Amino acid sequence: MTNPPETPSPQSYPIIGNLLSFLHNRHRFHDWVTDMLSQTPTSTLRVCTFLNLSHGICTANPTNVQHLLYTNFPNYIKGSRFHNVLCELLGDGIFNVDGHLWTVQRKIASHEFNTKSLKNFVADTVKSEISNRLLPYLSAASLADEQFDLQAVLQRFTFANILNVAFGVDPSRLDTENSEFGKAFDLAVETTSSRFLSPVPLIWKFKRFCEIGSEKKFKDAIKVIDNYAMKIIESREDQENEIVNNSDLLSRFMSNDAVQFQDHDQKRKFLRDIVISFVLAGRDSTSTALTWFFWLIAARPRMAELIYKELLSVATAAAAEEGIVFGYDELKKLHYLHAALSESLRLFPPVPINSRLTVDDDVLPDGTHVGKGWFADYSAYAMGRMEKVWGPDCKEFKPERWLNDEGVYQPLDPFRYPVFHSGPRICLGKEMAFVQMKSVAAAVLYEYELVAADGGGTAEKMMDPPYMLTLLLRMRGGFLVRLKKRRCGPPET
Ligand code: HEM
Repeated sequence: MTNPPETPSPQSYPIIGNLLSFLHNRHRFHDWVTDMLSQTPTSTLRVCTFLNLSHGICTANPTNVQHLLYTNFPNYIKGSRFHNVLCELLGDGIFNVDGHLWTVQRKIASHEFNTKSLKNFVADTVKSEISNRLLPYLSAASLADEQFDLQAVLQRFTFANILNVAFGVDPSRLDTENSEFGKAFDLAVETTSSRFLSPVPLIWKFKRFCEIGSEKKFKDAIKVIDNYAMKIIESREDQENEIVNNSDLLSRFMSNDAVQFQDHDQKRKFLRDIVISFVLAGRDSTSTALTWFFWLIAARPRMAELIYKELLSVATAAAAEEGIVFGYDELKKLHYLHAALSESLRLFPPVPINSRLTVDDDVLPDGTHVGKGWFADYSAYAMGRMEKVWGPDCKEFKPERWLNDEGVYQPLDPFRYPVFHSGPRICLGKEMAFVQMKSVAAAVLYEYELVAADGGGTAEKMMDPPYMLTLLLRMRGGFLVRLKKRRCGPPET
């Protein structure tokens, strides 16, 4: 079936499809997609790949996004598109499956994200990581007036957090193994990312078949990841009859019998897939979000000051009781900070583009035809920069758009803002991510002013932001900063 003529497409040629345009714009991929989508009548494009091997659409239209993620949810699945690329890393983990396997994992895991668990997460994991590791590191760098890569520091921080949530691992204990696992994980994510974004998938499939180049390194990295996960799972099995901490994800899944297994090995593999999925979901997303947030704040001293004043207004009680790391109840009162983070996520969504596979022919609400087996993508990055969605000031960083007249944070329509996805598969870690981001932003901005080596995310730089083309919107070359201790400092307690 052919597409109705009114669905536009980037410049396309016989045989190579949209490949040339893609290669030409690779360095500014998300902005290229945004430009094209904003020039179409309904913010939707049709795409065809090399040799016409696959077809699909990409949209930034909130009504279409609602249709894909919610109204016709069963028709848009992860399917083979995700599975082929991510199978070695994620196996049958929540991120990579549909149907029954997904429902079971989602149900069990959701307990990990209720309010009580989140409060414990702040009290135990986040606070101790901030006060024992993050702040001492920042303090030393500030005293030495040393320039460092804040993106890398934040990545180590969120990695330590997620290891604790997923496996119950105290990251300070297993340092060598953790860092080997970390490196292997980085490499595995990088390879899967380039598989996903490869304009000619046949190339990586050939390299995988021959076990050469990046695919050989990937295979080795998967072995390190498997060993790490299995070691923890086995040691936990040894403690089965002892009283163990039951609040991490691994414990929850170990003690659950909703899925039947043929043998021990099958159960171990299932547990491995689940926890690794969570490490992927929770690790780089939050550190990426924080990196862009700090980049934007570094260029806006007035906003840093507004955040600082808000922190002062809730700090006295918290500081007296718990030092400078803010507790769950104080974090809830930080409306301006919440708005500033939401606004930075709008412009720099950590998952800039997301994809589904179409089960059956369908017509989107704007009239676009989508064929069976096509991919259906939505670009959260483009949506954040669309005049049709956010008005003429869409490209400005304005936390105020999230606040009502009383300065109280107001959530907006999730289909206009699918930064955390939406519908039945909405991000399970959204609240946890906000708790983490607010804790870190509060702890850092309470004590320091950021001096970015590149001057930070000024209005001009925001038009050509330094991102890399990976699954997550990582900052190219890291985020180099110096920290200046605030002159006034925290109040005396
Ligand atoms: C700023 C931080 C974060 C952002 C922007 C974010 C964004 C997203 C997005 C866009 C998806 C949909 C992915 C897809 O279906 O293809 C997703 C799913 C998910 N996220 Fe997050 N995420 C963040 C942090 C976290 C954290 C901290 C965790 C957990 C520790 C987490 C756990 C998950 C899980 C388990 C899913 C899969 C849900 C499902 O398929 O049912 N996320 N997230």
